[in-house]
Amino acid sequence: MAATEEELELLRKELVGMKEESEKQGELVRALKGKKVEKKEIEEAVEVLMKLKLEVQTKEKELVAKVGSDGGKSSNKETFRQQLNDTLTNRLFFIPAFKIYGGVAGLYDYGPPGCAVKANVLALWRQHYVLEESMLEIDCPCVTPEVVLKASGHVDKFTDFMVKDEKTGMCYRADHLLKDYCNEALEKDPLLTAEKRQELKGVLSTLDELDAQQLGAKIKEYNITAPDSKNPVSDPYPFNLMFKTSIGPAGNSIGYLRPETAQGIFVNFSKLYYYNGNKLPFAAAQIGQAFRNEIAPRQGLLRVREFTLAEIEHFVDPEDKSHPKFKDVADLQFLLYPRKEQLAMEKPVKTRIGDAVSQGIVNNETLGYFIARTYLFLKSLGIDEERLRFRQHLPNEMAHYASDCWDAEVECSYGWIEVTGLADRSAFDLKAHSDKSNEDLTAFEKYPKSKEVERLKVTPHLKLLGPAFKKDADTVGKALLAMAEEEALAMKAKLDADGQAPLEICTTGKTFTIKKEQVSISKEKVVETGRRFTPAVIEPSFGIGRIIYCMYEHCFYTRPSKSGDEQLSVFKFPPIVAPIKCTVFPLMQNEKLNDVAKRLSVDLTRAGVANKIDITGTSIGKRYARTDELGVPFAITVDFESLDAEREDATLRERDSRAQVRIPLEEIATVVRDISEGRLAWVDVLSKYPHVAPSHED
Ligand code: ATP
Ligand code: GLY
Repeated sequence: MAATEEELELLRKELVGMKEESEKQGELVRALKGKKVEKKEIEEAVEVLMKLKLEVQTKEKELVAKVGSDGGKSSNKETFRQQLNDTLTNRLFFIPAFKIYGGVAGLYDYGPPGCAVKANVLALWRQHYVLEESMLEIDCPCVTPEVVLKASGHVDKFTDFMVKDEKTGMCYRADHLLKDYCNEALEKDPLLTAEKRQELKGVLSTLDELDAQQLGAKIKEYNITAPDSKNPVSDPYPFNLMFKTSIGPAGNSIGYLRPETAQGIFVNFSKLYYYNGNKLPFAAAQIGQAFRNEIAPRQGLLRVREFTLAEIEHFVDPEDKSHPKFKDVADLQFLLYPRKEQLAMEKPVKTRIGDAVSQGIVNNETLGYFIARTYLFLKSLGIDEERLRFRQHLPNEMAHYASDCWDAEVECSYGWIEVTGLADRSAFDLKAHSDKSNEDLTAFEKYPKSKEVERLKVTPHLKLLGPAFKKDADTVGKALLAMAEEEALAMKAKLDADGQAPLEICTTGKTFTIKKEQVSISKEKVVETGRRFTPAVIEPSFGIGRIIYCMYEHCFYTRPSKSGDEQLSVFKFPPIVAPIKCTVFPLMQNEKLNDVAKRLSVDLTRAGVANKIDITGTSIGKRYARTDELGVPFAITVDFESLDAEREDATLRERDSRAQVRIPLEEIATVVRDISEGRLAWVDVLSKYPHVAPSHED
């Protein structure tokens, strides 16, 4: 039987106690030897010591054996993943790209069923988000000029920390080396003390917060070497993940393949705002390819160099982040893993999203709304909700401008994997693009009635600034105008008191002395018709490939064949995402049966149901097994009773229960369409039509 984590912890504690006792006895023996006491006394003490040492050894063996027998969890995981990946690649769900030339790490092709699954997931995404929330969908280029990504911060900061094998030059991601070291020690080293285990768990829970220096220090402390060669590795340093290119033949215009789709939405903000009738809130969405030159792609579809992102930018008034539809989702309960629980190394908690928002665990209703909608979306794809959690970013993991971020994480054979990032990014992106482009990227809220308000007015006197500051005059003038109200008031007080005041320009660090006559600062009454502000943005960002892979893992299972000598693979995809909804089989090769099958296939196609006809004549059991492997939820078999003018019906089989009913030929396409689209449940079909025992399962 597998030992529980509690039992292992108890054994470790016992072992620590026994080792301490044995060490004390060792000290006693040494002391006795030093004192030159009677030989017999020493011999007795040595005997006790030997006995204690033996007990320690026995306990260690017990612990090693118990850890080794983790219920076969780790080897089960490997076998499961192997079976899954064999099925996925054999049936062409995905294939390493450019394989005939040896392939390229991190690049994959989707084959026919993979393409169909992806199209279904994207259709569901559009339905669930774009249509349901009336989002404005756009489609922007992948090739992006440098200026855009300079403004967004990607050129300077879109980096991961890399280390190099000092001898071979192989590159690794520093945080991944540290993560693998901790996980391996925790899983495989039975003799780790409780203290050490706690320390390593602490490192894992704060991994995303570590900077280059901290990562380097840990790598040195734990003596972590290059996994392939065991050579020492360099200090970590930042590596930019963007693919650089040049636009146009001259080669002097730098561009990048976009690492996310979001920037295309931000730069179009004012057009979309206008399209939306100058009203907030509204959301824009984009589905498209993103490119990241990952340092060491691994884990199949989970970390690749080109992938499909589906992103939403929901623009709101920063002073009002309520959501009109939040009440529709407030009662949903699912696993949340807030910062507090992570830092205390506690488990995620099933929480009502309404409570998480009202208690301030989730920053605002709009973010909470998208978290809840994402839970519903992932569940509808067949993701198991017990292995789905929303993890809050730790303070240093978040960008400095973000007010709250949560990742949807799915547990699969590789551990907990981020599949969707949900971030409240405040007004950062629009401000950054507005500053760089000088375009107005603000929104305007009209007051119901105009208001008279007092405003501080700063007027730099350019005629005096010019001679005083020469080439810097323009910068000084702009900096005076850009002062916040508090800053301007402080300057006015200083000018009134001393006749001059310092002005620091943050971008250059230079300080100028401003004289009283060079600027006037005064309060004025003005009539305002509304308020102008930069909207905040809440961004859910979905990695479609990661979602699909996790869905494959959660939907995959094996079951013995009828004869019991084979394990058959099945994907229990919900019909809505299944690549093909229904197969049509003539029971055996026969022209009349084929004709009926062909007619049914045409009926299904006309009803909009993706279907496949199989007239290969292989045994019907084998044909069922083949379609189970593709996750096809329903199969129609045309047999000789179907030809009987009195009956004119065929069997319909459901994939997971393998139950079958007989349905009249003219109804079958409509029934399959309705169950595939979720309008009808299989139980309703079972209660309406006569049940038949399958005779040809393999
Ligand atoms: P990670 O920390 O795993 O590298 P990230 O935090 O950089 O991911 P984001 O920038 O938030 O990821 O990207 C949004 C989404 O894009 C992620 O939730 C993930 O689903 C997906 N994604 C990111 N990088 C990759 C990749 N290399 N391959 C596949 N999907 C990815
Ligand atoms: N309807 C054919 C069979 O499975 O028995």
